[in-house]
Amino acid sequence: MLIGCDRDGDAVNLCRGRFASFGPAARLHHAHFREIKRIAAAEGHEAVDGVLFDLGISSIQLDTPGRGFRFDSPDLLDMRMDRRSGPTAADLVNDLPEGELADLIYRYGEERHSRAIARALGRARARKAIERCDEIAAIVAAAARSGGRRGRARIHPATRTFQALRIAVNCELDGLEAALRDAVDLLRPGGRLVVIAFHSLEDRIVKNVMRGLSGKGEAARLRLLTKKVVRPSEAEVARNPRSRSARLRAAEKLGD
Ligand SMILES: C[S@@+](CC[C@H](N)C(=O)[O-])C[C@H]1O[C@@H](n2cnc3c(N)ncnc32)[C@H](O)[C@@H]1O
Repeated sequence: MLIGCDRDGDAVNLCRGRFASFGPAARLHHAHFREIKRIAAAEGHEAVDGVLFDLGISSIQLDTPGRGFRFDSPDLLDMRMDRRSGPTAADLVNDLPEGELADLIYRYGEERHSRAIARALGRARARKAIERCDEIAAIVAAAARSGGRRGRARIHPATRTFQALRIAVNCELDGLEAALRDAVDLLRPGGRLVVIAFHSLEDRIVKNVMRGLSGKGEAARLRLLTKKVVRPSEAEVARNPRSRSARLRAAEKLGD
């Protein structure tokens, strides 16, 4: 039996179709991962054999017109994984005080030109609300260039700002630590927790929870299966370039 959840209703609907042949053995929920304990209980399970977190955004979200994740698109700057509620990225860019916008871009994007970028966004939005992805990408790129980015950029100059907005809109780091701990509670002894993260802020939380629960600081509940984080091979990245930032960690639940 597989019990799955995704906060994106489109992803859940797609998977319902894909897993239809498994009948009642695949149970899918439109929910945030902070609800995994409630979902498992609702499905009648107090314990499970394995939990996989495949974090971040999907290629479908990135590539579907209208979702607002891509800097080269004329889409509305939306970026919400769950479109049932919450502010969009355009709301943050237009409404946050400039200082908060700079802090957010620095913290979640690890962008050293965050102040110049926030100033440029502040100037642009004073003239007219910033609504489209390609608009913000152009403003950010110009601000980052004038801030003196040297050498040939490996990534688009708006990449870090887009990552920051996406993390903020979806509160991506909120609840991750609690959800990982809930997953460990749910595991049977010998059961495995596997987590794939796609940026260092997320991976740091995963690393700290797994290390902490493997006896470094707290009573041991896990045995680490990956002493070092597992990264994709060059061959995998060549086959699937979007795997390049993936970081996998795994652990096994110890007996009580
Ligand atoms: C890297 S994709 C993986 C999707 C799927 N495993 C696949 O291989 O196609 C990450 C998925 O996690 C979902 N997601 C991100 N944060 C979530 C959260 N807090 N709760 C539930 N789902 C979340 C996203 O909506 C996205 O569909």
